[in-house]
Amino acid sequence: MLVTLKNILKMAEAKGCAIGSFNTPNFESLKAVIDVAEELNQPVIIMHAQVHEEMGLCKMDEIAPIMLFMADRASVPICVHLDHGTDLDYVKKGLDLGFTSVMYDGSTLPKEENYANTSAMVEIAEKYGASVEAEIGSMGARESGNGGGESIYTDPSEAEKFANETGIDALACAFGTVHGIYLKEPKLDFARLDEINKAINVPIVMHGGSGVSHEDYKKVIALGVRKINYYTYMAKAGGEAVSQKKYGQFHDAANDAIAAMKNDVKNAITVFSGK
Ligand code: 13P
Repeated sequence: MLVTLKNILKMAEAKGCAIGSFNTPNFESLKAVIDVAEELNQPVIIMHAQVHEEMGLCKMDEIAPIMLFMADRASVPICVHLDHGTDLDYVKKGLDLGFTSVMYDGSTLPKEENYANTSAMVEIAEKYGASVEAEIGSMGARESGNGGGESIYTDPSEAEKFANETGIDALACAFGTVHGIYLKEPKLDFARLDEINKAINVPIVMHGGSGVSHEDYKKVIALGVRKINYYTYMAKAGGEAVSQKKYGQFHDAANDAIAAMKNDVKNAITVFSGK
């Protein structure tokens, strides 16, 4: 059942839990995530990231129809989201394809431009009945690991102003997680997250969510995180599973990778859902 980000995050708020938000750049990862969500009877967010297209993975117009089809026929609520859209035209294309939610990421732009572009995107998405996530502060090096620095952590009063002025449905905040493999254990700034949570009245999104300890997941959820973006450690689980064996045929490798990714996603959704 296809739902918007706004609605799925309302479900998370009502239960005081977080929704797992997984990048699904190919059919194997898509199948792994949806199968687990249905097995656990939990809502889930599936995401296409603009950066994955640049890395040679599926293009948005190739993967979006499959994501939407799989989400629509699923037995659980699923939001189909565009992750880190950095170009307004690309994000608009995502809305035309039917994404129920988009992230416009202007976090590396001058502040005024991020405000203006995000506000414009909120107005456009409204016409499609879609939700908008945006980011203030920055996660540092995208998808490469341990690139962030404290100087770009989200400022709580800026977060309040940004959320109020742009009218977004969810805010991605930087408080110590990074995309990619953690080269050292992440140290999250819980005091900052607490301040942001008290200052804003939209749900908080934690990017760089894979590779974080179960204890830290529980703490950030208690401090208002309602969407946890997750990909690297699921992809790593799939990669590691197939590097152990020699395969004659790709479909056998694909099946083993799906099983390993399912196992990783199951652990993540179980913690995020508060079980
Ligand atoms: P990870 O790299 O930690 O899996 O984070 C994914 C993400 O935040 C996508 O936006």
